[in-house]
Amino acid sequence: MLASKRIILGVTGGIAVYKAVDLASRLKKEGAEVRVIMTEAAAAFVQPLTFRAISGNPVHLHRFEEPRVWNVEHIGLAENADLIIVAPATANILACMALGRAPDLLSTVLLAARGPILVAPAMNTAMYMHPATQEHLALLRARGVAVAGPEEGDLACGSAGAGRMSEPADIVAAARSLLERGGRLAGRRALVTAGGTRERIDPVRYIGNFSSGKMGYAVAGALAAAGAAVTLVSAPAALSVPPGVRRVEVESALQMREAVLADFAGSDIVVMAAAVADYRPVEPAAQKIKKQGGDITLTLTENPDILAELGRRKQNRVLVAFAAETERGRERAEAKLRRKNADFIVLNDVTRPGAGFGTDTNIVAFLYPEGQAREFPLMSKQEVAERITEEIIRLFYKGERK
Ligand SMILES: Cc1cc2nc3c(=O)[nH]c(=O)nc-3n(C[C@H](O)[C@H](O)[C@H](O)COP(=O)(O)O)c2cc1C
Repeated sequence: MLASKRIILGVTGGIAVYKAVDLASRLKKEGAEVRVIMTEAAAAFVQPLTFRAISGNPVHLHRFEEPRVWNVEHIGLAENADLIIVAPATANILACMALGRAPDLLSTVLLAARGPILVAPAMNTAMYMHPATQEHLALLRARGVAVAGPEEGDLACGSAGAGRMSEPADIVAAARSLLERGGRLAGRRALVTAGGTRERIDPVRYIGNFSSGKMGYAVAGALAAAGAAVTLVSAPAALSVPPGVRRVEVESALQMREAVLADFAGSDIVVMAAAVADYRPVEPAAQKIKKQGGDITLTLTENPDILAELGRRKQNRVLVAFAAETERGRERAEAKLRRKNADFIVLNDVTRPGAGFGTDTNIVAFLYPEGQAREFPLMSKQEVAERITEEIIRLFYKGERK
């Protein structure tokens, strides 16, 4: 996978620089063409000559050095790379990337890059856990930057905790999967639903739910990043459309059904992440309902089951369902999976801290029709979306869908 790929290895100034030497050597062994860009701080830890000898290429250090091979160096470097890996990635470079700052060659190349980027953070636990670093990482993930690690363990500063750079072998594996994923769904069409539907009671009121749409939007973005042409049928959500995604805005369950059915025939992949109301008022009032003194009764009627309808017409599409449960989650999700004929169901127990509605993180399990389950720890919704995308790719290329 890495053979003859042009990889830029950005090396920044942390103690883990010595591990980047091993990383450069592994990338070379896999057949990659490696260009190293070091920050000035990195060069204080390890001599550029080390990387020059291992990569077989001159090391790029300063923004204003005499360009030899490249016309406009930073643009040339960015445009010619299949992948940029930043390892170790200091708190400082993550901040530069998140804020779009470009004070030196590496940060300038990162800002000019349009291709995939993988960062391997390495720092002291307090620096890693600082809200600034965490927010920068969340922002980068949301923009599609892949993050490897960090791991927990003994740190060079003498303490122990989260912040140790991932092992070079793991970074190579992450690079491989990133390059593999890029474009794997090119030419495929995906349909994703997101957000919580609104069922009108009268012209100013509705029955809604707490779904923010974040999970579905993240899945739409991850599928688009893997090359799929994505239509996102979205119930109201205060979120921006991920790059490369076409959004169709709807309000109610009935409108969502109509929009989904309009796109279903041409789709290869369907991910139903929206929280669709099970019931709607039978007849929304034409005028605003006024206080009348005493109780009023709202009669609800059942909405059509969009997922079950798609399940019946699934054929060889990959169909992914979501289940948000508050009790007996596993049992209910398994029953839903069988009823709806989905390939797998993503279960989130919305009662657990860090999971469910509105949060940026989620705790999920994938359940399969054959009864297996894969449980995941607390992850950002972006990471969950990437796992879902990887699983869709695996299912897509399995058997007859090849
Ligand atoms: C001995 C020493 C070790 C350091 N280790 C780290 C580290 O592991 N991670 C980190 O984010 N910063 C670390 N720093 C701080 C960075 O070197 C500093 O923020 C520098 O400005 C980063 O520049 P760069 O991102 O351009 O490489 C260390 C500093 C010193 C003096």
